[in-house]
Amino acid sequence: MEDKNNAIPRHIGIIMDGNGRWAAQRALPRSAGHREGARAVQRTLQAAEAMGIKYLTLYAFSTENWTRPREEISTLMELLEKTLTEYQKSANKKNWRILISGERDRLPAAILAKMDSLVQATAQNKGLTINLALNYGARQEITHAVNRLLKEGIQTITPQDISLRLYQPEIPDPELIIRTSGEERLSNFLLWQAAYSEFYFTEVLWPDFNAAELQKAVADYRARRRRFGGI
Ligand code: FPP
Repeated sequence: MEDKNNAIPRHIGIIMDGNGRWAAQRALPRSAGHREGARAVQRTLQAAEAMGIKYLTLYAFSTENWTRPREEISTLMELLEKTLTEYQKSANKKNWRILISGERDRLPAAILAKMDSLVQATAQNKGLTINLALNYGARQEITHAVNRLLKEGIQTITPQDISLRLYQPEIPDPELIIRTSGEERLSNFLLWQAAYSEFYFTEVLWPDFNAAELQKAVADYRARRRRFGGI
């Protein structure tokens, strides 16, 4: 039957946008928006798990975010470090597996150390997989994969050769990508993996995102017809 709903997506990617505008609307500093954004991350993780989603990729910091004012970068780094510390305590209890996608250069040593121990400590967990895109850029990821192929001395490559050398080759491509705050672009997020993803854009600012918004996005996705280039 053609008109069956799509299943719940296994993998959702989220571009968490609008923290700054959320703060500006309240005459608060941008850092307050990021802090509220970190709370929205927690809500979303719980909601995704409850809905049976297996993989969540969250765009936490892009390779382009280094151009922001130094003070804002430190707020974001502090929040990330705090989040990693919290996960270190709670991830095993929740059976969550943490993966990190991105380049290591420029990240503070304290964050790198926390990332590594967290990834290692949760590697065997079978619950929700949280893939944090941190210092992430999709063009960098693809370039990284191609450079690996060059080093391996491969002469002719297939798309699968590239897929297998991305940061997280074992994660299925995201069926759904959500972007908040009314912006409608990919901003160097999962360019390769998004080849057949459905997109969901909402005006909701990231700090206001919650379980109901995630459910709305998934319901919208489930009602769509996916053709993958067929008819
Ligand atoms: C976009 O808002 C958001 C970010 C630059 C990064 C996302 C970071 C968080 C949600 C906080 C911490 C993350 C984790 C994983 C704990 P913006 O500043 O671009 O907003 P604007 O477009 O309204 O200025």
